[in-house]
Amino acid sequence: MRISLDEAVAKLQNGEVVAIPTETVYGLAADATNESALRQIYAIKQRPADNPLIVHIGHINQVNEWAAEFPPLAQKLASAFWPGPFTLVLPAKDDVSSIVRAGEPTVALRIPSHPLALQLLKQSGLGLAAPSANKYTQLSPTTAVHVGTGLGECIPVLDGGACQVGIESTIVSVINNDWQLLRHGMIAEAEITAIAGKPALAGLENQPKAPGQHLLHYSPKTPIKLFDSAEALMRYQQISKQTCAVLLIDDGSTNKLLTTKPMKPQPVKPQIVQLPKNPAIVAEQLYGVLHHLDTLNVAQLLVQLPPDRPEWLAILDRLTRAAHHP
Ligand code: TXA
Ligand code: MG
Repeated sequence: MRISLDEAVAKLQNGEVVAIPTETVYGLAADATNESALRQIYAIKQRPADNPLIVHIGHINQVNEWAAEFPPLAQKLASAFWPGPFTLVLPAKDDVSSIVRAGEPTVALRIPSHPLALQLLKQSGLGLAAPSANKYTQLSPTTAVHVGTGLGECIPVLDGGACQVGIESTIVSVINNDWQLLRHGMIAEAEITAIAGKPALAGLENQPKAPGQHLLHYSPKTPIKLFDSAEALMRYQQISKQTCAVLLIDDGSTNKLLTTKPMKPQPVKPQIVQLPKNPAIVAEQLYGVLHHLDTLNVAQLLVQLPPDRPEWLAILDRLTRAAHHP
């Protein structure tokens, strides 16, 4: 159900839950000080209570309403990356609801850059707790249509168009004068290191971990199988007896492969989506493509992994989790 900005403000102020656009993915938002509204978020998402929520704020001056400390290092990172796809985890003030932080001593804060989200934050005057607007472990929504498909048409949605970043924010925790990367995103570790003037605390760089980061995450309903190269994917596709759809992350050379090597006849000709080898474009399109391929009712989605390089880490993380078999 689409609603206007004014309706969204009124509903949020009234303790109701509203799906809102951000530049990363759509969020399922509620007043972060209203515990019955917060419980609705967990119930609608079927999210375990030990998985804390990000509080979205409209201005850097509001950090002190939520965080007990705002160390100089965190201030530097906030000034560099806000508004934007960047979340800071800081020690929480005692009065921050334990529901929003799932019992953690910290609180996660972000100023989104989507103009409608900023307007909503400003007009409502609220801090908005907002996890991605999807059921627990499922694919995140990057359009208002995805929200309705995933959570049901009765969820009120403020439609802000397609998300331009397309995958969830980078999460960094700052304690005293050190930082750790908790979730990869499109703000890369190297950019954070450059602003911080020092690397992340050793030990976690390759295994970022926020409490809610389960191995199965960001998943379409159709099982995903990952391949290191387009060649390996096409070989598999030619011998597979199952119906499949294909996502290639490629610079175009596979086009030749596809046209010069005729495929064995398939019961259903596979639908092939090809994205260019550009991390920002793949991030923007990834969930939309997976949502689309998921509607085709094939047995498997075959996905080519991008190269194992720093600029692709956030996308590798999402694809690996999406393909995880419990
Ligand atoms: O881009 C985004 O971050 C989107 C948009 C809507 O802002 N939100 C989002 O929320 O991805 P969610 O709930 O799907 O993921 C938030 C992640 C979870 O893995 C959670 O565990 C972690 O943030 N998190 C939240 N509070 C935390 C805290 N106090 N300490 C550590 N991790 C925290
Ligand atoms: Mg999520």
